[in-house]
Amino acid sequence: MNNHYPFELEPLPYAYDALEPHLSSEIVQIHYENHHQNYVNSLNQALSRYPHYQNWYLEKLVAHYNALPVQIRTAVQNNAGGVYNHNLYWSSMCPCSNYFPIGTLKKAIDRYYGSFAFFQKQFKSNAMDVFGSGWVWLVADTSANLDIVVTANQDSPLSSRLTPIINLDMWEHSYYLQYHSTRSEYIDNWWHLVDWTYAEERYQSARVLK
Ligand SMILES: [Fe+2]
Repeated sequence: MNNHYPFELEPLPYAYDALEPHLSSEIVQIHYENHHQNYVNSLNQALSRYPHYQNWYLEKLVAHYNALPVQIRTAVQNNAGGVYNHNLYWSSMCPCSNYFPIGTLKKAIDRYYGSFAFFQKQFKSNAMDVFGSGWVWLVADTSANLDIVVTANQDSPLSSRLTPIINLDMWEHSYYLQYHSTRSEYIDNWWHLVDWTYAEERYQSARVLK
């Protein structure tokens, strides 16, 4: 699997119906095959005539799109972001029903938010406040401090030197077919899907970067 041009769609780590009933098979398939694939295609198209940047790996494109030629800067910002954000979105969910944080991340959430329940409340409040299309993230900074951040469109906290731990897609395409305008229910049910083992691995890697 290339982590540079030409980029490929990462394999989905489970079957389309694996996240039922919380996320329908129809949504997962359309979201993955159409939306996610389109970001991959558009990123490749943007880089196709710029060989100097074809060896840049995905995270570098997302974090440093401002260093690219102005002709492709916005396209890479949107589409490298779209690829990266969706890679993380799929990877940070699972049909594994492990409902609570574990390990060092659990300790950090308790330390920063007092309890997992209060963290969930804060995260949901941020998600509900996303205006238009965007994402809500749990991130760690370079000192392994936790924060909840919101980004617009396909922007990513990687561009702000933050390590994404998990993210929630708040674009309508991620929930509308199943939840219509009830964002609140989409968010509540997403908690059933979070892969806290994967989140712990990501938080530990952020701590190593410290
Ligand atoms: Fe999406």
